[in-house]
Amino acid sequence: MPEDIRFSLRNVTCFYGERVAVRQLTMDIPAQGVTAFIGPSGCGKSTILRCLNRMNDVVPGFSLTGQVLLDGEDLYGEAQDPVLVRRRVGMVFQRSNPFPTSIFNNVAYGLKLHFKLSRAQLELEVEAALRAAALWEEVRDRLHAPALRLSGGQQQRLCIARALAVKPEVMLFDEPASALDPLATAKVEELVMELGRRMTVVIVTHNLAQASRVADRTAFFLRGELIEMRPTVELFTNPQRPETEAYLRGRPV
Ligand SMILES: Nc1ncnc2c1ncn2[C@@H]1O[C@H](COP(=O)(O)OP(=O)(O)O)[C@@H](O)[C@H]1O
Ligand SMILES: [Mg+2]
Repeated sequence: MPEDIRFSLRNVTCFYGERVAVRQLTMDIPAQGVTAFIGPSGCGKSTILRCLNRMNDVVPGFSLTGQVLLDGEDLYGEAQDPVLVRRRVGMVFQRSNPFPTSIFNNVAYGLKLHFKLSRAQLELEVEAALRAAALWEEVRDRLHAPALRLSGGQQQRLCIARALAVKPEVMLFDEPASALDPLATAKVEELVMELGRRMTVVIVTHNLAQASRVADRTAFFLRGELIEMRPTVELFTNPQRPETEAYLRGRPV
């Protein structure tokens, strides 16, 4: 049975000014499970990830040719509202970036922006998002404390809760654990896997072990091009392309 496709990229080329960062990329990202992007620093992983929710729109000099389809709709079409796109496609960054306000307000922010809720509904939704991000038990008795007082790992899970609160269909993670200690990393990885069971998840990681733990399929990029994308176990045990094999073995690529 063919897999459902969430994103279709067709001949996508990304520019920063005149410089090409991603070249002629064509790939499909399935709706189910976790897709990892790996490859050396500067190969275009973050650029591609940001194409999936129009986060590049705000980067000066950025432009894109080709097509990015989300559920068959042109993400860059005239009718698309980038704010709505980012509600449907949530994103979590390497450095957690809570707003300098309370834990509660961080999660409530997007809910207030996108939905008209009573105070009671708002409280229920904030709780649900914090539970979904495996943070509720740790913060339930200090929801009005400043978010910036949380540990790094808790702040990252708060950012995940903030993104989940507005009920996205997709979550994008850009090296979400690379600033975290091993225990906090394990919690984030656990969440990524859990979310992958019910929504589309794409994670950029330079940590190969992390990709092999969390991802159903892995895409290897080099110098702005997709080299291969395959089920993670197959990519790691039996890469089809010499560049992939070299990278996985830690040889120069
Ligand atoms: N905001 C930006 N302005 C100009 N060039 C950028 C910007 N972001 C990334 N680039 C360039 O685009 C290329 C791909 O970068 P990036 O997508 O960040 O790679 P990765 O995430 O794989 O490390 C690199 O050459 C990088 O220098
Ligand atoms: Mg990056």
